[in-house]
Amino acid sequence: MSLRLGEIAPDFKAKTSMGEISFHEYLGNSWGVLFSHPGDYTPVCTTELGKTASLSEEFKKRDVKVIALSVDDVESHQGWIKDINETQNVEVNFPLIADENKDISEAYGMIHPEASETSTVRSLFIIGPDKKVKLMITYPASTGRNFEEILRVIDSLQLTAKYSVSTPADWKEGEDVVISPAIKNEDIPSRFPKGHKEIKSYLRMTPQPNH
Ligand code: BEZ
Repeated sequence: MSLRLGEIAPDFKAKTSMGEISFHEYLGNSWGVLFSHPGDYTPVCTTELGKTASLSEEFKKRDVKVIALSVDDVESHQGWIKDINETQNVEVNFPLIADENKDISEAYGMIHPEASETSTVRSLFIIGPDKKVKLMITYPASTGRNFEEILRVIDSLQLTAKYSVSTPADWKEGEDVVISPAIKNEDIPSRFPKGHKEIKSYLRMTPQPNH
C-alpha cells in the first residue's frame, strides 16, 4: 500500500552528502520537503537542485528543512554537488540521500517501474511538524518541478494549519482566502474581523487573516 496524505512520513536512517542522518530527528519540529530525482549528473536534476539551493532563504523563512534523494552513492553526490554549485552559481546546503538499496524509495513509493525500473521518479513530499504527509506530487523525469509552487503550497499549508480557512485556485500570499464551511455565519465577525464577502452561502471570502 502506498503512502497517503495524513499518514506519518516513514522514518529512516540514511547516508547523505552531509553525513548520516535519522530523518525525523533531522526534521525536528520544522516542516520538511523530501524530494527524489532520477539521477546524479543529469541536466534537469542539476537545475532543480540549483533552484532549491537558490531558494534556501525562502525555505528557512518558512522553517522548512529540505532534503533530496536519489539511488546514487554519496561519492557521486559529492562530485555532482560541485558541478551544481559551479553551474548554477549556488551553494548546495541541504543533504542528498544516497538510497543505494532503494529502501527509502520503496517506502515512499518513489519507484514507478513502468516509468523506470532502476531510478526514482520526481516525487516530492511536504511533511508537517507532526511528521504527517501534507502534500505529495509526482513529476516525470523529463519535467523539472516549479519550486515557486512548492513555496506557495507551504504558505497555504502553514496558513490553513493556523486559521479556519482554505486557499482558492492560484492563491498567493496576501490574497483573499476562503472561510471554512464549518464556520457559522454568526461567528464570522469575531473570527475574521477584517470583514468578509458572501458570494454564495458556501463561498465566503475574507482577507488573509495574518497579512
Ligand atoms: C534529467 O534530470 O535531465 C533527466 C533525468 C532522467 C531522465 C531524463 C532527464
